[in-house]
Amino acid sequence: MDLDIFKEAIETKVYHIQPEVEVPLHEHATQDEVFYCVEGSGFGVLEGEEIELNVGDVFVAPAGKMHSIRNDEPILLTALLIPVNRIVCHCNEVSYADIRKAMVDGARTVEEIQEITGAGTGCGNCIQDIEKILSVACGCNNISMEDVVNAVKAGADTVEKVEEVTGAGNNCGKCKMLLQNIIDIKK
Ligand code: FES
Ligand code: FES
Repeated sequence: MDLDIFKEAIETKVYHIQPEVEVPLHEHATQDEVFYCVEGSGFGVLEGEEIELNVGDVFVAPAGKMHSIRNDEPILLTALLIPVNRIVCHCNEVSYADIRKAMVDGARTVEEIQEITGAGTGCGNCIQDIEKILSVACGCNNISMEDVVNAVKAGADTVEKVEEVTGAGNNCGKCKMLLQNIIDIKK
C-alpha cells in the first residue's frame, strides 16, 4: 500500500449537531466512518440499533451500512472516513467498486451485473446485496435510482439539474459519473 496516497484519502470531519437537527440515515459505500464523541451525548444509529455515545466513546459505521446520529442535547463529534473497497461477492472476489463501475457502464439488473462482473454467479448469497447496490444512485444522501430516473424523465438533463431536484451528488461527488450515465441512457 502507498502510505502517502492512503493518508491523502482519509477524510476528517467535525460535526456539531443540535438536537433539533435530524441527521438522515445514509451510508458511505466505500468508506468506514469512525466517530469519536468530544462533547455532549447521543446515540449512533446503525441499521436500527442505537449505540450510546458519551464523551470519549467511539462509534463505527462500516462501509455500506445505513447509519445516523440521534441526540437530545448538542453533541460534538469528530469522524474519520477511511477508504475501503468492500468485497460484495466472495465467491468471485467482486468488490463494490466493480459493481458501481458496471453501473456507470449501464448495467441496471442483477443479470447484467452477473454478465459483466461475475458477481452472483456462485452460491448466490450476494444477490440481495447486489440488488441493494443497484437500487441506490447516491449513497451519501440515500437517493434511489428510481428518484433519479424520474427526475431525468421529468427533464433534468444535466448532473447539476439532477442534483438540484433530488439532492444526489452534492456530498462526496462519487456518484456523478453514474448520474451522467442515467441521463445518457434515461434508465
Ligand atoms: S457470494 Fe456471490 S455468488 Fe457467492
Ligand atoms: S455518493 Fe456521495 S454524493 Fe452521491
